[in-house]
Amino acid sequence: MKTAIIGGNGQLGMDLMKAFAGENSTSLTHTDIEIENTESVSRALTALKPDLVVNTAAYHKVEDCEKNPERSFQVNALGALNLARVCESMGTALVHVSTDYVFDGKKASPYIETDLPNPLNVYAATKLSGEHFVQAYSSKHYVIRSSGLYGHSPCRAKGRNFIDTMLKLSKERQELRVVNDEILTPTYTYHLARQIRELVTRPAYGVYHVTNNGSCSWYEFAMEIFKLSGTRVTVVPVPAKEFPAPIKRPSYSVLENKGLQSLGIDHMPHWRESLAHYFSTRTAAG
Ligand SMILES: NC(=O)c1ccc[n+]([C@@H]2O[C@H](COP(=O)([O-])OP(=O)(O)OC[C@H]3O[C@@H](n4cnc5c(N)ncnc54)[C@H](OP(=O)(O)O)[C@@H]3O)[C@@H](O)[C@H]2O)c1
Repeated sequence: MKTAIIGGNGQLGMDLMKAFAGENSTSLTHTDIEIENTESVSRALTALKPDLVVNTAAYHKVEDCEKNPERSFQVNALGALNLARVCESMGTALVHVSTDYVFDGKKASPYIETDLPNPLNVYAATKLSGEHFVQAYSSKHYVIRSSGLYGHSPCRAKGRNFIDTMLKLSKERQELRVVNDEILTPTYTYHLARQIRELVTRPAYGVYHVTNNGSCSWYEFAMEIFKLSGTRVTVVPVPAKEFPAPIKRPSYSVLENKGLQSLGIDHMPHWRESLAHYFSTRTAAG
């Protein structure tokens, strides 16, 4: 299966390149393709003629999206439309990576794929538009919603991941205050990439939630990070209102991998298991 991975040098993209190794896969970086540019998309993809395109590219710093909604819509929504149109014209399947932020967090139990989205900010609204364009224009699509990504390669848009931030802060401060009333599922890109690789072997097109299993607060995540890294630091659980933010975010964004379960292929480990894998491979992988 000839595969093109857009954002192949990104946090998830690097793990996708490994998961698709041996599959005639090509990494398309930002210098090879600009997804918001129709001609660039057409040129890059028609030259390759892949059987599958995996799009990880996004404009996804939430604060920047809020300040620049036009740019956010161009990349996250119109970029997805460009990809869907060109893929459809070639009969190519399209994996498009989206986000748990499409939901408002008011549900008290894990969101399934058929729950009604209600985005709270510009980033989330433009990612949801991207999902809709992909669904409308690509007959062979997999829309993958994931959450709280971390991996061995840095997130290019955001730099440090939460783990690096916690470990850095633990060296600078004696006491850390970490939010205990925002609940999510941190998801390890190594396992996410392998799960995507497994899903696309089936023509079961649609929207999928793909996160690690289980859920936790940022505080619980931090405690596990310090336990696994052998870091001694005092951590105090605090409410999110202690760090007032101008941008609304869902306070609960746990996703259930219902679609994968229905196919009998939910192989995403519990988040604690994935985090242990991350730490056991952290030094070797850099
Ligand atoms: N990070 C999270 O916690 C999280 C959570 C849920 C969902 N997601 C979604 O997961 C996806 C991947 O996230 P990630 O953390 O792997 O991101 P990342 O490390 O920032 O990688 C994104 C890649 O896309 C490229 N790119 C950005 N804008 C582009 C454009 N306009 N045209 C072509 N390429 C472009 C980037 O290249 P340059 O860096 O050179 O611009 C980079 O290679 C995104 O769609 C994001 O919305 C992320």
